[in-house]
Amino acid sequence: MSAHDYIIKDIKLADYGRKELDIAETEMPGLMALREEFGESKPLAGARIVGSLHMTVQTAVLIETLTALGADVRWASCNIYSTQDHAAAAIAASGVPVFAIKGQTLEEHWDYLDKSFLFPEGANIILDDGGDATLYVLLGARVEAGETDLIEGEPGSEEEAAIFAQIKKRLAASPGWFTKTHDDIVGVSEETTTGVHRLYELQREGRLPFPAINVNDSVTKSKFDNKYGCKESLVDGIRRATDTMMAGKTAVVLGYGDVGKGSAASLKGAGARVKVTEVDPICALQAAMDGFEVTTLEDAVSTADIFVTTTGNKDVIRLEHMREMKDMAIVGNIGHFDNEIQVAALNNIQMTNIKDQVDMYTFPGGKRMILLSQGRLLNLGNATGHPSFVMSASFTNQVLAQIELWEDSKASSKKYANEVYMLPKHLDEKVARLHLEKIGVKLTEMTKEQADYIGVPKQGPYKPEHYRY
Ligand code: NAI
Repeated sequence: MSAHDYIIKDIKLADYGRKELDIAETEMPGLMALREEFGESKPLAGARIVGSLHMTVQTAVLIETLTALGADVRWASCNIYSTQDHAAAAIAASGVPVFAIKGQTLEEHWDYLDKSFLFPEGANIILDDGGDATLYVLLGARVEAGETDLIEGEPGSEEEAAIFAQIKKRLAASPGWFTKTHDDIVGVSEETTTGVHRLYELQREGRLPFPAINVNDSVTKSKFDNKYGCKESLVDGIRRATDTMMAGKTAVVLGYGDVGKGSAASLKGAGARVKVTEVDPICALQAAMDGFEVTTLEDAVSTADIFVTTTGNKDVIRLEHMREMKDMAIVGNIGHFDNEIQVAALNNIQMTNIKDQVDMYTFPGGKRMILLSQGRLLNLGNATGHPSFVMSASFTNQVLAQIELWEDSKASSKKYANEVYMLPKHLDEKVARLHLEKIGVKLTEMTKEQADYIGVPKQGPYKPEHYRY
């Protein structure tokens, strides 16, 4: 590694970053327990991990856990607004190559992701959030295999234009690089719902070239991070962006999956009157029975003050809706990609930047709208994402997934084919168990007779696979 194998905002922020890392470690018992358990045996020795995940303080603790377990790591953020520059500085100062700046451009996003693959001996495993790192290698390799039309022609979006341009750059600089990298990668562990959708799609199309672990659907990930994480970080983002009074306002949460449930609870906890929209009758019924009015956006659009998309779907809030909103309505997204809100359709509307990641649009006629983080996930763009404690549960799953994939890649008889897997339930329960003591939870122990009576092993797993929590 060269002396300055990093691109960050300012290395002088490293001391501040380190102090926050020290505090975060006290709130991340799962990761610290893995350091204790595996610090000596170093199960990740030889792994060269490309990380593409929000470069926050919590992620810094993840990175240092991976390196404590023997891995070499290079890191990029998976979102242009989510980096915490002091966390990136602390990581850079520790000698781990990191490429992430809060407010980087889309072109830089793909350039930095590319740089995070550039181990001298090549990368061999991916830790992804949203699937960009996986997409980059797979798309580049298909182009190298002759499907050049994939990156020719008019790109469908700014996002596409940026990835196409980066792939062309890499193709010109190092012919054969994508194919080699594609062949060297032994697996990917994926953090979020949207990235997991992409992986199952690849599996269906028979295009998944290596095993994948779906970290998102560990119970101790999606039922905690997506839900309780958003419960804390959604309102945090709206407040830091706008300082608006939340109590008494009407908020619309679009989507009532795990993120929607946490988001609705967040707004309700802050005193807002919350309405929910859903397409799925089960989630709609859940929202209603949790006490929320379930309606359509068309119905609520002209009377609500705050709108938050949580669907992982596209074009959920469209220009026609934004035109209908009240003066000074606040609009934001907490789903993975910015296409939930038709931000591109606002190109012709007068825009005033208020501060970083907060813009005001003035429609013809004078009505104004506040857009947070240009439609990118506002809890990481306008605030600092979820608290450490809940990220510890998510990232403990990530580390266990990396160990599974790396160890299997070296084993003579393989557990994993080129398909998407979940971690076994006993590991899910282990992750939860590692987080109990910190918050003073006392667990009841069953007697052998009780365990036999309900038909589960005394030491768990305590639930069948079909149980939904
Ligand atoms: P989910 O699948 O549990 O929930 C999404 C819900 O949206 C579903 O219930 C679906 O029926 C509903 N939906 C889809 N289209 C809709 C439409 N047009 N109108 C109304 N509802 C609609 O997914 P989950 O886990 O809640 O994740 C949602 C998004 O948030 C994903 O993109 C995920 O990657 C992202 N995410 C973001 C986090 C953050 O910190 N910002 C944390 C975790 C996930």
